[in-house]
Amino acid sequence: MREVPSKSRGFGARTNVESSGALSGQLHIHAGFGLPMHDFLKLSTSNYNLNAEAGETEEEFSARMAAEFEATVLEAGSDTIVAFFAEPMQSGGGAICPPKGNWQAMQTVIRKYDIHFHVDETVCGFGRTGHYWGVEAFDLTPDRTTCAKALTAAFFPISAIMFRQDFFDDLMLTSDAPGVLGHGFTYAGHPVGAAVASEALKIYGDIDLIGHVRGIGLFCGIQLVQGKGTRALWDPALKVGTMVQDRAHTRGCTYGPSRPIGLVFCRR
Ligand SMILES: Cc1ncc(COP(=O)(O)O)c(C=O)c1O
Repeated sequence: MREVPSKSRGFGARTNVESSGALSGQLHIHAGFGLPMHDFLKLSTSNYNLNAEAGETEEEFSARMAAEFEATVLEAGSDTIVAFFAEPMQSGGGAICPPKGNWQAMQTVIRKYDIHFHVDETVCGFGRTGHYWGVEAFDLTPDRTTCAKALTAAFFPISAIMFRQDFFDDLMLTSDAPGVLGHGFTYAGHPVGAAVASEALKIYGDIDLIGHVRGIGLFCGIQLVQGKGTRALWDPALKVGTMVQDRAHTRGCTYGPSRPIGLVFCRR
């Protein structure tokens, strides 16, 4: 049994910490907090390398994961499923890239049962998958998206949620019943965070330096260009690759410039 004493009408906190921890699929987050809560259902990890059966193709594995999802929805009762939460590609779970056909099969179930689809872009967003958003890399159509980290290039703490108008309309409607949506963070809407995010987004938009990220396994290269639209290369005399390399070195990151104007990881 867990009991947390507090004073009647004491503020406490407005963040529903238990439920966000319960949402996590990482066991070390649950340990010691009486989690997971029974309403939080867990699906298998779509890790083809570890979890595929002998002889199973990626597509068959993906179909099996989607069948498990559908069976879980039906067992719980599809009208009781509030939303499905997922990262486009799992990060802290072990950089798990969805196997072929995985998201297509999962989204078929999402649409079939009209499940609200919440995508967590905290790690995948802002170019990490080679696309601006992780949803673009895997062709996802979420109802709601959260993002953070690179929203300010990680220079200041901030997170954001984006949702469609119909979700906002629902929020407005249902807020009339309890009076106000009882949830928040002490520094939510902090103007410094908003200003840093706004500047970071401007820089991402203005400086379209990365033309192409390519590679296989741990061998990876980044093509630097003057603008993605034109794909114009920099004048080799400017040594843009070397300039970026030097700045990265001062921040403890090392890789090699590829002359005239790119960066290559695992070069030596
Ligand atoms: C995918 C993902 N979502 C969310 C978070 C952050 O969650 P919270 O704001 O609850 O700390 C992280 C933290 O690294 C993360 O990797």
